[in-house]
Amino acid sequence: MLSVAPMLDWTDRHYRYFMRQITRHTLLYTEMITTGAILYGDKHRHLDFSPEEKPVAIQLGGSDPAALAECAAIVESWGYSEINLNVGCPSDRVQNGHFGACLMATPETVARAVDAMKRAVNIPVTVKHRIGIDGLERYEDLRRFVDVVAAAGTDRFIVHARIAILQGLSPKENRTVPPLQYDLVYRLKEEFPHLIIEINGGITTFEAAQSHLRYVDGVMIGRAAYENPYLFATADNIFFNSNRIPPTRRQIIETMVPYIQQMRARDIYPAHILKHMLNLFKGKPGAKHWRRFLSETMYQPGVTETVLLQAMEHIPESVLDERPEIPEEKPC
Ligand SMILES: Cc1cc2nc3c(=O)[nH]c(=O)nc-3n(C[C@H](O)[C@H](O)[C@H](O)COP(=O)(O)O)c2cc1C
Repeated sequence: MLSVAPMLDWTDRHYRYFMRQITRHTLLYTEMITTGAILYGDKHRHLDFSPEEKPVAIQLGGSDPAALAECAAIVESWGYSEINLNVGCPSDRVQNGHFGACLMATPETVARAVDAMKRAVNIPVTVKHRIGIDGLERYEDLRRFVDVVAAAGTDRFIVHARIAILQGLSPKENRTVPPLQYDLVYRLKEEFPHLIIEINGGITTFEAAQSHLRYVDGVMIGRAAYENPYLFATADNIFFNSNRIPPTRRQIIETMVPYIQQMRARDIYPAHILKHMLNLFKGKPGAKHWRRFLSETMYQPGVTETVLLQAMEHIPESVLDERPEIPEEKPC
């Protein structure tokens, strides 16, 4: 199992559509959406997505079982494949709303939330959490959290292998400062072999992902999937046993042209889509030109999908048509 992590401002519907051109099977997550936004906000703005993006898991932020159950039923009817509860976000705003990582202190609350959602829907309900928070940093605390939440029928646990420090660190610092402790996640899987446990945090290559899969059931990749999206061109072959020929970057761009056109007809600015494509050539000759050209042109008035074709002129043909090699061995 391989997935791209939920990331606020990054994994919106346009990014997901773009990633889906690169990998057909990797599970994609939405950004975190609060129960309040769904229940009292513009549902179409928050929930609409293209069927091509599937499978998509929606990540909910909240802790009230009734509100979560109501949202769960809504998002299931909207066509989402899975529901994930955020128990990892350390931001002040989220803490003030009594959800996110602070819920690690009250596993019973998370269990009630999962139970309520499970009763409301037939799709999987999963939990993404940390290995601890300040004051609850021992493995025994983590173990108790998973034990209690598993009893509510949680379908999968995705564990960011760092504690979250709720007092004194920003969300960004909370993704780098607390050290990664993969061994604690492996130990969870060892002690709960019947549970599906995925690992997240600091994984930037497929070699690293494959080595984690010796100990856990799945790998979730966050920042590396945004900073180098084409990394996922061989994901279907390596992790999902697919024979699909990896798409070239040119083919990916060509599929995005009609998408941008289609979205433009619905008054979506091309920049909202193009911004996610800036890293497509990461590490390749022409990458800087691509980034610079798109960044400079995408916010200009009247810009259309044709900027993609113009930006392509800055890239050597060999790079546009290059296909990554699929490793011979498929260990998973
Ligand atoms: C820009 C950004 C936004 C994020 N937003 C969320 C979010 O909405 N929900 C969540 O559970 N985690 C969020 N995260 C954390 C990631 O899902 C992931 O747990 C974290 O980045 C560690 O994985 P990585 O080292 O592979 O990036 C965010 C991370 C980044 C970089």
